[in-house]
Amino acid sequence: MSNSVIIKKTIKQFNKKIFVSGDKSISIRWVLFASIADGTSKAKNLLMSEDVMAAVNAIKKLGIKVTFKKNECTIYGKGIDGYNFRDDLTINAENSGTLGRLILGFLINSPKKINLVGDRSLSKRDFKRISEPLSKFGAIFKLKNQKNLPLTIQGSKNLKSISYLEKKGSAQCKSAVIFGGMRANGTTFIKAKKSRNHTELLCKYLKLPIKINHKKNYDEIKISKVKKINPLNYKIPSDISSSAFFIVLTVLSNNSKLLIRNVNINPSRIGIITILKKMGVNIKFKNKKNYKGEPIADISVASTKKLKAINCPPKLNSGAIDEFLIIFLVAAKARGISYFKDIGELNQKESPRLKWGTKILNKIGIKTITTNSSIKIFGNPNLEINQKIIIKDYLKDHRVFMASVIAGLTLGGTWKIYDKDSIKTSFPTFLDIINNLKNNE
Ligand code: S3P
Repeated sequence: MSNSVIIKKTIKQFNKKIFVSGDKSISIRWVLFASIADGTSKAKNLLMSEDVMAAVNAIKKLGIKVTFKKNECTIYGKGIDGYNFRDDLTINAENSGTLGRLILGFLINSPKKINLVGDRSLSKRDFKRISEPLSKFGAIFKLKNQKNLPLTIQGSKNLKSISYLEKKGSAQCKSAVIFGGMRANGTTFIKAKKSRNHTELLCKYLKLPIKINHKKNYDEIKISKVKKINPLNYKIPSDISSSAFFIVLTVLSNNSKLLIRNVNINPSRIGIITILKKMGVNIKFKNKKNYKGEPIADISVASTKKLKAINCPPKLNSGAIDEFLIIFLVAAKARGISYFKDIGELNQKESPRLKWGTKILNKIGIKTITTNSSIKIFGNPNLEINQKIIIKDYLKDHRVFMASVIAGLTLGGTWKIYDKDSIKTSFPTFLDIINNLKNNE
């Protein structure tokens, strides 16, 4: 079967209500927390994607039983020291940076050697950002080229607490150190540039010994040794990062409206909403509620004819970190020159996304000026593509695939986009939802 999609027509107007799948960050964190809880935890609406299944397979290898029944996953935690596995075990994080990085914080107190491997994309990514702070606790790391996978971790039962300054705005780095701090003697201090805070919210909900002091640009976090974690039943809300593709599909289509139900709108995740509002898009949150510390709402959005360019304030970067490819498409149709700076971290993702964003924009005839950490996009409200666009060899980055599909469905031209399977990592139902929206026609 072909693993590419061909798009020849833009999508016709639609007016629909949809659900997107469960949040990936929360799903992976729930699997990991449940694996060391004292007893049985159940989750509904867990994201059934390859990244999350890699997390499930990882805890199974660590001796934890997991079962699935309909829309419910059950994890039979055996307590904080309940992992049971042989020396020299290999865990495969596949494509998932979040799993690969967070799980190291969970393995840090194991004196047995564990190997961590990943797929071609993950093997190109930086793991020194995790091994460096975690070795200060007392774990020993060996990494390929001192920074990549495969790596070996050998932890210790006697870890000392550390002080850590997180400057990148990386929730993965911050979380790995929080998990390390949960295992170390004494209290670990973290000063972290603002980033998604699902780990902290779960720690608070579970009443773990964590204290957070919110400052303007960073958070101060104190975490002490954890003795016991209670089981955690959870209904995973929908993913704003998956919703983002449909928000932009609606914005760039004609006379369309969309309501996306039950989406996590944690303030540390909604950079795309603030950015699109500044660009002139009409987006509203409806039915707001709080679920175990996480804010949830339905998101309503409508097509927008007049889009304004944006000089994007860098303080919005972390909250929109996974959405820039799709935001760049909106900038391509906006009047004026948009400017995004301090976004070098984009090149550290599943593929070098700042490069790929530039490539896609240039292929569709949009002028850009790109550096290692910024991009200027010369928008064209009359943009219409007439040529054939081929997207391939992008390290199967799911977000490159999905952003390209949205471009094809809204900007015209004929698109051939390879590696459709990439959606399985984060959003397996992406193309089904597109087909559902098309059925409106
Ligand atoms: C994530 C954090 C972000 C994000 C990734 C998920 C998380 O990565 O890009 O998709 O769940 O903690 P960084 O922490 O590297 O910015």
